[in-house]
Amino acid sequence: MKSSCGTKFAFLVLFLFAAQSVCVYAGSFHKDVQIHWGDGRGKVLDNEGRLLSLSLDKSSGSGFQSNQEFLYGRAEVQMKLVPGNSAGTVTTFYLKSPGTTWDEIDFEFLGNLTGHPYILHTNVYTKGSGDKEQQFHLWFDPTAGFHSYCITWNPQRIIFTVDDIPIREFKNSESIGIPFPKNQPMRLYASLWEAEHWATRGGLEKTDWTKAPFTAFYRNYNVEGCVWANGRSSCPANSAWFTKTLDKAGMDEVKRVQGKYMVYNYCTDKKRFPQGVPSVCT
Ligand SMILES: *[C@@H]1O[C@H](CO)[C@@H](O)[C@H](O)[C@H]1NC(C)=O
Repeated sequence: MKSSCGTKFAFLVLFLFAAQSVCVYAGSFHKDVQIHWGDGRGKVLDNEGRLLSLSLDKSSGSGFQSNQEFLYGRAEVQMKLVPGNSAGTVTTFYLKSPGTTWDEIDFEFLGNLTGHPYILHTNVYTKGSGDKEQQFHLWFDPTAGFHSYCITWNPQRIIFTVDDIPIREFKNSESIGIPFPKNQPMRLYASLWEAEHWATRGGLEKTDWTKAPFTAFYRNYNVEGCVWANGRSSCPANSAWFTKTLDKAGMDEVKRVQGKYMVYNYCTDKKRFPQGVPSVCT
């Protein structure tokens, strides 16, 4: 009797704990974002606001933006990318501040011909200057199912993760004079657009409009951060992401992924930076 009751209690506690850790940050596309671009090409597909699709045809792409702005935060979503011949399409999930000296943190997925790999393009802009690209192939087919993509942005670092695996860390190196995004609140954006000239190694492939409309799906929008309002930001209490670092295992993961899947790194592009690669690299 006693032990079965104990077990039940343990299960109940476990259940409540699990339910909480799943639900706490779950967002809703109905409540948290606005489909601000695309004239009906972006759609929330369910009542709970868990699933959204963006589409692209010859006349327009589409996109959504978060209602709130954040100064530091953690932005995660699951995405299922355009299948088949997606050459020339770009599907994005990024943070950006307004203005001409903006800050930005990017995940962009460059489509490809059927059977050829997508490129995951990452970049960080500070005060309007980017030039910090790192690109990866993925270790799975991003069009076959949903995978989770996450940006953690805190005062010490920016961490990009794919299915909880860290693939890139951009550290705050202000102490050696490298600007870091920390003054400008950013909004979360997602979009599906056409960039044949940029996204297919300089226009090598053409977008096949006979396959339009192209559609990408977003699920389980999960963004929390220090919300910006009336000129100041307020951070939620006890946010693990605010002090998140990469431990030894995390750094080893980054090394492993970069060793195996990285296809471009601005830090090793001597052709582009003949006077020497940017100091943040060294
Ligand atoms: C497309 O496929 C080619 C050949 O498989 C590959 O080298 C390239 O990285 C892929 N991605 C893009 C966006 O070109």
